[in-house]
Amino acid sequence: MKFYVTTPIYYPSGKFHIGTAYTTVLADSMKRLHALKGEDAYMLTGTDEHGQKIEEKAKEQGKTPKQYVDDMAAYAKELWKKMKIDYDDFIRTTDDRHVKVVQKIFDKFMEQGDIYKGEYEGWYCVPCESYFTETQLVDGKCPDCGRKVKLMKEEAYFFNMKKYENRLLKYYEENPDFIKPEFRKNEMINNFIKPGLEDLCVTRTTFDWGIKVLKDPKHVIYVWVDALTNYLTALGYGTDNDELFKKYWPADLQIVGKDIARFHLIYWPIFLMALDLSLPKTILVHNWVTMKDGKMSKSKGNVIYPEQLIERYGLDSVRYFLLREMPVSQDAIFSPESFVERYNFDLCNDLSNLLNRTVSMVNKYFEGNIPEYNGTPNEVDKEFEEFSSKQIDLFEEKIGNLEIANALQEIWTLISRTNKYIDETMPWSLAKEDNKEKLKSVMYHLIENLRKIAILIKPFMNDTSENILRQIGIEDETLIKWKTLKEYDKLKGIKVIEKGQPIFMRLNTEEEIEYIKNLMKK
Ligand code: ME8
Ligand code: MG
Repeated sequence: MKFYVTTPIYYPSGKFHIGTAYTTVLADSMKRLHALKGEDAYMLTGTDEHGQKIEEKAKEQGKTPKQYVDDMAAYAKELWKKMKIDYDDFIRTTDDRHVKVVQKIFDKFMEQGDIYKGEYEGWYCVPCESYFTETQLVDGKCPDCGRKVKLMKEEAYFFNMKKYENRLLKYYEENPDFIKPEFRKNEMINNFIKPGLEDLCVTRTTFDWGIKVLKDPKHVIYVWVDALTNYLTALGYGTDNDELFKKYWPADLQIVGKDIARFHLIYWPIFLMALDLSLPKTILVHNWVTMKDGKMSKSKGNVIYPEQLIERYGLDSVRYFLLREMPVSQDAIFSPESFVERYNFDLCNDLSNLLNRTVSMVNKYFEGNIPEYNGTPNEVDKEFEEFSSKQIDLFEEKIGNLEIANALQEIWTLISRTNKYIDETMPWSLAKEDNKEKLKSVMYHLIENLRKIAILIKPFMNDTSENILRQIGIEDETLIKWKTLKEYDKLKGIKVIEKGQPIFMRLNTEEEIEYIKNLMKK
């Protein structure tokens, strides 16, 4: 089985803050999950380098647009490396392979009559690269970002969206998995489709930095037509070298933030219909990471960058926080307090301590040798086995429905239950009573559950997973396979490390809250 997952391609208009990093961490996690399940997983990311905003940014910095985007693409790759994003391809919309195919696609739309020439007048928001009608404006400002808009008029080409309206609605209806979560579909229908889908203006003449229409080169192709097609051009669509396209299209999962839902849920499927291509199986729309005082912004002085947190707290705590804090239907709120709390409770108290206690007990009672499974669990162990099996099912159910935070929650329920199992079985008493059989079974079950936990968290926190496996002495690849999650009786002749090392050390709450607050002020 194949699994093709994409992130949006990022506007390189400045450094990426932790909110922006969310989409990519999530896509990476999903890729890793499917790869771990043995699928042929392929992840695409990249940068969206054209448009007026980029042209202006470059000017500000005294660079040519090309210099500017080269530097920013290098910055993006560097950041994804730090965040261990395991992407397979990084597409830049200035790549030749992209530009040529976008021109071809535009041509095809013109020939088919999907694109026609007209005149455009409307309210334009430069940072959002979007035109709005009078009624779409909020207090006379951009409905997406709240900034000033200007009235502009130009000769332009339009895409006939109306023509596809019914087909799109029918597609929504017949493919319940197409949009996740479901309420986003209703938003699209109620806010954009029912009021009447307007034709989309797909060219600009007000700036240069973009892909030119081949047959009418004073027109630059609208950035969204340019950008959306990246998901195809990266696979070699429309060229002689299209094996990747044949292999991976349609995408299995496309992940986008809520601000760009409209482009991905309406225009993108329509473009695909016009190209006579299959639609992605699922588009997941996620919410935003915000701050207590609303949106992250430089002017508010509440921005936090992933590098800053990674440097002090390690990569996995940042990945965990982002994935765990994002609810399905609301924005996540980043606060220094909640970050430190997640770190101390979930990662240190629950996970790190479980590993530490277990490794030290196996050392103390069995000189580090993990006892073998006796095959006939007693009552307590049986219940524990069933519990862990149920949590794995719940994890699968939530992740299958793309409820990422809830899926992680199910893993943490298993971690808590495993800690509780130690308190219940009281290995120290068993040792005192010299109840060797029971003690062996308890140790076996603890290690077995740690192995499962390590597999379950691997897609999200690879380093931590590997660290756990190393400490419990599991090196054999066959024991780290997804399909072994429900198996027992596999661990034979394995030794834990002599001295366990905490994977997360308790943070001083006040000090670290202060530290993060200072980062945000900078
Ligand atoms: O939209 N929390 O690029 P982009 C969560 N170039 N996600 C956030 C966020 C936040 N605070 N801020 C931004 C673009 N994002 C286009 C995409 S795709 C064909 C073209 C998310 O750099 C945002 O929702 O503005 C989007 O998914 C991603 O970061 C990149 O945003
Ligand atoms: Mg944006």
